[in-house]
Amino acid sequence: MAKEKVTAVSLSARKGKGPPIAVATAYDATMARLLDAGGVDALMVGDSLGMVVQGREHTLAVTLDEIVYHCRAVTRVRPRAHVVADLPFLSYQVSPEQALRSAGRLVQEGDAESVKLEGGVVRAAAVRSIVDAGIPVMGHVGLTPQSVHQMGGFRVQGKTVDAAQRIFDDARALEDAGVYAIVLEGIPSDLGARITEAVAVPTIGIGAGPHTDGQVLVCYDFLGMFREFTPKFVKRFAEVGETVVQATEAFVSEVRAGTFPGPEHEFKAAGAAAPGSTAARPGASGGYGPTGDEG
Ligand code: KIV
Repeated sequence: MAKEKVTAVSLSARKGKGPPIAVATAYDATMARLLDAGGVDALMVGDSLGMVVQGREHTLAVTLDEIVYHCRAVTRVRPRAHVVADLPFLSYQVSPEQALRSAGRLVQEGDAESVKLEGGVVRAAAVRSIVDAGIPVMGHVGLTPQSVHQMGGFRVQGKTVDAAQRIFDDARALEDAGVYAIVLEGIPSDLGARITEAVAVPTIGIGAGPHTDGQVLVCYDFLGMFREFTPKFVKRFAEVGETVVQATEAFVSEVRAGTFPGPEHEFKAAGAAAPGSTAARPGASGGYGPTGDEG
């Protein structure tokens, strides 16, 4: 029996109940299908794509158009998982009106089912404006990558009593403004636990310890595909990057040796095909598509 679609409402209802929530980032249709098949609760079209897809050093140059494009690719596969799309830098900070218009584009053009934005107390009005329009919002506090220059780099936040209190207040402000979940990034585990205990919506941690209501990781990180550096909070659950390199070496070597393509990969003219063979079947002549008839 098909499992039920995950929504912002069903995710929010898991606060304090059921197993922790598992979230992975996704930026394209093929990966979205695979991660959905693996059972994640939500796919996050994160602006981390600036780093892992575009090869930049931070996320600041990612545009709303780019998030719309990647979000559309993810939602097109109609995943069971909920799809949350990031509002990129400067698409929501100018005013609550701008925030609503940008969120609206992610929903209307990207088919996003909710949006995520960074910041706490200072973003409460923007959150309210989006939520009041009927779009669920996920908050994001602690290490907020869009403030990388203000933080002096990607540094763990909330290490002093005052800094921890500010992040705690940010989370409470987001809750009051109506978010359905909050990402806690790059903070000490005890602060992650304290916020999780204090707010009535699920917390989704990334480098925030084991006591949050869920965990999120960048898919290329936990699959071992992004190998430039591995942050302390990342666990590599596979070495897909190594598999890709090995498979590519095998492809290159077979092409050079002339052993690929083999007879099983060739097309024959219809007259030359044996009756009942693949090439003789109507609509199965080749080309790049599930039925092979697009070529
Ligand atoms: O951009 C992103 O992918 C994120 C997650 C890592 C939380 O914000």
